[in-house]
Amino acid sequence: MFGRNGIDGAGCVKTAGPEAQQGPRHVAVIMDGNGRWAQARGRPRLFGHHAGAKRVREIVNACPDLGVKYLTVFAFSTENWNRTQTEVAGLMSLFRRYISKETRALRDEGVRVRFIGDRVRLDNKLVAMMDELETITECNDRVHLTIALNYGSRDEVSRAIKDLVGDVAAGTLAPDDVDEETLTRYLDTKVLPDPDLVIRTSGEARVSNFLLWQSAYAEYEFVDTLWPDFTKEIFAGIVSAYCVRDRRYGGTRS
Ligand code: FPP
Repeated sequence: MFGRNGIDGAGCVKTAGPEAQQGPRHVAVIMDGNGRWAQARGRPRLFGHHAGAKRVREIVNACPDLGVKYLTVFAFSTENWNRTQTEVAGLMSLFRRYISKETRALRDEGVRVRFIGDRVRLDNKLVAMMDELETITECNDRVHLTIALNYGSRDEVSRAIKDLVGDVAAGTLAPDDVDEETLTRYLDTKVLPDPDLVIRTSGEARVSNFLLWQSAYAEYEFVDTLWPDFTKEIFAGIVSAYCVRDRRYGGTRS
């Protein structure tokens, strides 16, 4: 298992001076503002989602130099099914397009891709493409990109509890052995360290059911920039600012 929030991460960004700290090993991003970005240009919302997808590549590529080993992005929530049928269908088609267009580059650039979320409601073709991308990139270790697709934290925890209770009923898990660590092993994110930093774009200061369990001790950064305008320079600035934060995990300054 990883240590708490992976603060022993490699390849860290340092600031000069005695206040220097390690950079975030795992950054999670709520990519918000695609719709407003498109509307401001008189274009349909999907135009903003396409522009947003391009930013994902730029931010993934920026990670190694910033010492960010894990990047998790919120692409589609369990609540996003409530959008219009046109937008949902357009997003699903964008995910398929993104996977087929980006697979080779992701593989060649050392990116390991994983998906979290419930795949049951996704169409079979998309799930097959997700499985294939995970397999093709499974030996990569330069950056670990996790895409949350049909993901919601409450849904994830409910599914985890259902599996855990199943194991208790089957006699393979003793009720007395159930603790925080046990539940963590049943989550979609079981192989990932906890996020150190969660960024939300577009000026909204909400967490929207994203990695609630995993982000118990994460630092949060809410920025006004709309996701399609979120450049690698803005990302680098946030990562640098994180380095001088004082994370105490409920304890006191040592
Ligand atoms: C929220 O913005 C964004 C989404 C629900 C979709 C996020 C998807 C992408 C960035 C593109 C695809 C990503 C990958 C990894 C292929 P919003 O539409 O709610 O914006 P608004 O608040 O301005 O309406």
